[in-house]
Amino acid sequence: MQIQVGIITISDRASKGLYDDLGGPALKKAAEGYGWKVFAEALVPDEKRDIQRAIREQIAKGSQLILTTGGTGVALRDVTPEAVREIAVRELPGFGEAMRLESMKITKNAILSRNLAAVVDKTLVICLPGKPSGAVECLGFVVGAIPHCVEVLQEVPTSC
Ligand code: MTE
Repeated sequence: MQIQVGIITISDRASKGLYDDLGGPALKKAAEGYGWKVFAEALVPDEKRDIQRAIREQIAKGSQLILTTGGTGVALRDVTPEAVREIAVRELPGFGEAMRLESMKITKNAILSRNLAAVVDKTLVICLPGKPSGAVECLGFVVGAIPHCVEVLQEVPTSC
């Protein structure tokens, strides 16, 4: 199955037009490189309600996988994990653990990251760092588990 993907950039400054959104396009390129179909994109400020609304809108459009970039750091405005947890049916801690473990081999600051994956309705939501290269790297660390996870959530018959 070709995975239907939505991408959400979460950034106060990019949403105000103070700088270009580089993270969304970087993730789109990476997702297409994995053979997935990116059919929804959004850019929202670091506000829980905006983040939750964007996730719900992309789920309503048919996203099986949502990739977010931004809002996972330690700054007080960073609220992506809180926004996603509030609407999630469950969290998948292995994703965040693997991303931090692998990312710390690249930068010590990765321990500050609160990357996570969670299930909202039947959709896998993966929250990646705001730095475009970091978001693409983190996606690469967990990509191997994504197709099976999406198939299970979409109730597609799988071999394991
Ligand atoms: N992970 C990877 N793989 N590569 C990176 O360059 N940057 C880190 C980290 N995770 C980075 C990374 C940095 S600099 C920070 S401060 C934290 O993610 C938090 O990022 P965020 O605030 O953009 O979410």
